[in-house]
Amino acid sequence: MSVLKGKHIVLGITGGIAAYKSASLLRLFVRAGAEVQVVMTPSAREFITPVTLSALSGKPVVSEFFTANTGEWHSHVDLGLWADAMVIAPATACTIAKMANGVADNMLVTTYLSAREPVFVAPAMDLDMMAHPSTLRNLDLLRSYGNHVIEPAEGELASHLVGKGRMEEPEGIFRYLEEYFERRVAVENSPLKGRKVLITGGPTVERIDPVRFISNFSTGKMAFAMADEAARRGAEVTVVAGPTVAVPADSRVRVVRVESALEMLDACRREFPASDVAVMCAAVADYRVANPASAKIKREGHEPPHLELVANPDIAATLGAEKRPGQILVGFALETDNGPANAMGKMERKNLDMVVLNSLADKGAGFSTDTNRVSIFRRGVVEPLVFPLKPKTEVAADILNVIETL
Ligand code: C5P
Repeated sequence: MSVLKGKHIVLGITGGIAAYKSASLLRLFVRAGAEVQVVMTPSAREFITPVTLSALSGKPVVSEFFTANTGEWHSHVDLGLWADAMVIAPATACTIAKMANGVADNMLVTTYLSAREPVFVAPAMDLDMMAHPSTLRNLDLLRSYGNHVIEPAEGELASHLVGKGRMEEPEGIFRYLEEYFERRVAVENSPLKGRKVLITGGPTVERIDPVRFISNFSTGKMAFAMADEAARRGAEVTVVAGPTVAVPADSRVRVVRVESALEMLDACRREFPASDVAVMCAAVADYRVANPASAKIKREGHEPPHLELVANPDIAATLGAEKRPGQILVGFALETDNGPANAMGKMERKNLDMVVLNSLADKGAGFSTDTNRVSIFRRGVVEPLVFPLKPKTEVAADILNVIETL
């Protein structure tokens, strides 16, 4: 049974050539058991007739504030409240611009402004319009309001004659909504609800003198993506983070700031006993300077200094040794070669329950990128779970899904 059964969907249709595909999308929703109310912009009626749409949805189509002959008032507020989701497909550059700026001069945009539940937007326009900075900016604005912008995948575009700007196929839009609501159900029923989750993230900074340091390129993006996702699932999340520009998006996430590996270890040892799950995402510097200078090291008249390095403690291994039954400890491994063997080795050595392996050899994976490609190794399971290249936010969801099964 589809997760969309019984859902109330407002299907907004605007005046683009792709409007003919809205009928197929509507049919998919109706077949899945959803109740659909179509709202059209006036120009959409030039592309597809309301009769077709009302026949398919079993409801009169709304496109004006008043019904012409009876003067009956259509309440956008009621529609907005009624909706479990609003889908605008196709969404023209004009409607996207109006939505981005709150120009409520038709029933569709007015309903959009009243909608409390998630809004899904499938842009459809010609290539140049899609590439125009104003369209890109408006789409970014919609994303920043939390709306979902659904576009064909890059790879898919290459295999079609038409390029960017083509509306995602009705099946793709339908699947997107199904996946969204499936995920929402999973999040609502998450075993992480009420659990305490500790995450380390970012680099550590090891001082050479008061102005110079040894560090690495970690941005903390993966750790904060995990933290946001765990918070969304109802967990009580603490991130122990080295210096990063990135911050968590979710204000419920508690952040404990540290600088060096030793400080990170201290903070983790304080937090770990009360944690149910700990995810070691930080890129901890392996070495620190044995005797950092208390004053700035001078260049003039000095030979280049020799830095004496000493090993930092392994935070994951320390927590692994202190782990109680029932606590779950997850590590990351970033390898350039022999990934799987090293990942399994780390699991043993550090007493981890799971290792997330990402390979620097993969384009788009690792530091600084917004995407990552991971394989997940679980204790006692030979075969890893292999995931494709995805945004770090989705990788975070995949990792937590696996943690939930442990
Ligand atoms: O041994 P390696 O540094 O490759 O292990 C990576 C994993 O161990 C990561 O989960 C990382 O956060 C953790 N780690 C740590 N403390 C260190 C080094 C690594 O917690 N000093």
